[in-house]
Amino acid sequence: MDYLEIEGGHKLKGNVVISGAKNSALAVIGATILSDKKIVLKNLPNVVDIRTMLKLLTMLGAKVEHNDTEAIVDCSTINSTKAVYEIVAQMRASILVLGPLLSRFKECSVSLPGGCAIGQRPIDLHIKAVEALGANVELKEGYVVATAPSSGLNGNKIIFDKITVGGTENALMAAAMANGVTEIINAAKEPEITQLAQMIDMGGAKVEGIGTSRLTVHGTNGKALEFKEPIEIIPDRIEAGTYLCVGAITNSEITLDRVNIEHIQTSINKLEEMGCSFELAENSITFKPASNLKGVNIVTTEYPGFPTDMQAQFMAVATIASSESLIEERLFENRFMHVSELNRLGSDIWLKGNTAAVRPVKELNGATVMATDLRASSALVIAALAAKGTTKIKRIYHLDRGYDRLEDKLSKLGAKIVRKRD
Ligand code: UD1
Repeated sequence: MDYLEIEGGHKLKGNVVISGAKNSALAVIGATILSDKKIVLKNLPNVVDIRTMLKLLTMLGAKVEHNDTEAIVDCSTINSTKAVYEIVAQMRASILVLGPLLSRFKECSVSLPGGCAIGQRPIDLHIKAVEALGANVELKEGYVVATAPSSGLNGNKIIFDKITVGGTENALMAAAMANGVTEIINAAKEPEITQLAQMIDMGGAKVEGIGTSRLTVHGTNGKALEFKEPIEIIPDRIEAGTYLCVGAITNSEITLDRVNIEHIQTSINKLEEMGCSFELAENSITFKPASNLKGVNIVTTEYPGFPTDMQAQFMAVATIASSESLIEERLFENRFMHVSELNRLGSDIWLKGNTAAVRPVKELNGATVMATDLRASSALVIAALAAKGTTKIKRIYHLDRGYDRLEDKLSKLGAKIVRKRD
């Protein structure tokens, strides 16, 4: 199995080009099912999750040409509406085919998802959303089997009692080809939702309220969507935030290119509180390290609040700050698996319920650690870059799911990082 070997303690310098957002690309790929014409997707990150989602489309019968950051997807040939366990178990986001398959083909069965082990992560809200549009949903032998009325899904009010990114995405895609108008209330507002809503709007199902928590979708009454222009995936705000944390922990000046600054504002704010500074330009940002890195208090919440997907990386940085940090995780109940691994590198982190107290240590020391989920893995990379000596990070298939060319990008900045095999 592959592992990463990182020799820590080196100062880095240079530019990193930020890739397309994995989470946006996954939803966009799901939405291609709503069209029976070819669609060109650009700026895809070259990561395993994207290849898995494209493979899922292929298994449904779509034609996919994929080359690095571009794909041409033709969903006119879809001849199956079953998302099988073998694929869905690899990646929870496969559930994103539920809404579009049901909307266009009036039936589908999707295996219950697997994915990151960061809590129970139910899909009840996805199911409630399609039920609100008239779908009949049953759980049979580990599959969600959903059927729309023969005349198609019917527009309705979907009220989410909890904000859910994936649930909002499925609701948007289910509403796109439904009959009449759907109102999605308490919708998630993440930039990935905005990209998906804009795509659906451009495809012919008018969407109002984009960027707000109340989305109105004018369904096309069964007409397939038509995307005329190539769809360019937005920059990955979590990848960008991760490289800012790399700069903070290694005390290095790093410039991020092709970044949307508004999307990473909360990470910028927290790093400023820690004493770091920034130079902003259009689509690029230069990180300047702190002379005295201070502790910080963080509470994860929905966008535009502080993202849960950046919690682990900030915790890694906080380990060597000069004062204590408190980090509260509000979205997922089991998202602290990196704590014990960071402590193996010499950090002093204490957990009580969903809050971590990070007490500063003078230095981290290299050790062998295990990646447990995608963002936890990147926290270990960040910590390893600052740790004295060599760190081996095992189970890096988690990292490969979501970080495009991680070793290349870090090596170009001057990091000593190599991929090896046991
Ligand atoms: C997405 C992101 C993930 C990010 C998360 C929160 C993708 C592919 N993944 O995940 O990286 O960490 O948003 O920003 O875009 N919930 C339910 N029932 C449901 C659905 C969700 O109770 O049916 C709960 C979850 O357990 C969690 C909370 O709602 O506690 C938020 O989850 P959600 O926003 O749905 O996350 P994902 O879409 O899975």
